[in-house]
Amino acid sequence: MDPQDFRNCMGRFATGVTVVTCETSEGTHGFTVNSFTSVSLDPPLVLVSVDRNTRAFEKMRDNHFIVNILKEDQQDVAMHFAGRPKDELPFEWVRSQYGQRIKGSLAFIECSPWAEYDGGDHVLFLGKVHDFDYEDGDPLVFYGGKFSRITAK
Ligand SMILES: Cc1cc2nc3c(=O)[nH]c(=O)nc-3n(C[C@H](O)[C@H](O)[C@H](O)COP(=O)(O)O)c2cc1C
Repeated sequence: MDPQDFRNCMGRFATGVTVVTCETSEGTHGFTVNSFTSVSLDPPLVLVSVDRNTRAFEKMRDNHFIVNILKEDQQDVAMHFAGRPKDELPFEWVRSQYGQRIKGSLAFIECSPWAEYDGGDHVLFLGKVHDFDYEDGDPLVFYGGKFSRITAK
């Protein structure tokens, strides 16, 4: 199987874009994630799939985390946390129960660690949801390897 072709195929699945934040001894770590998915309502569980080669992988282990779902005008935030950091932060932090989250996001979901599963070159982190909130707005979308927009009706 050609890995790049497989990647192109997976890119046909349109997703939202999130930044997952977690607290460490070095401060707040954030990284851009589109593998976020809802798993269970009872108990409330969500999942993110994390590349073993990221710095985030070690920071996520047995740690609380916050999923920040991005709005369409937060593409610069997504790039900032995808290895293209800007000198000046393109957002403000908000202090939350389990750490810092990103002001102006479409939604946030605060999680405690629930389980970790082997996912090949990734690890699947399941979190138990303790708090969340959301607002109206249009989401940032990732499709075909590019950022995109849809208008929510
Ligand atoms: C739109 C988009 C979605 C991404 N989704 C994921 C993902 O689901 N899991 C992952 O491990 N990395 C994902 N990445 C890549 C990480 O954001 C990137 O490797 C980041 O630089 C990791 O940061 P760190 O090594 O400082 O933790 C994504 C990048 C982009 C641009």
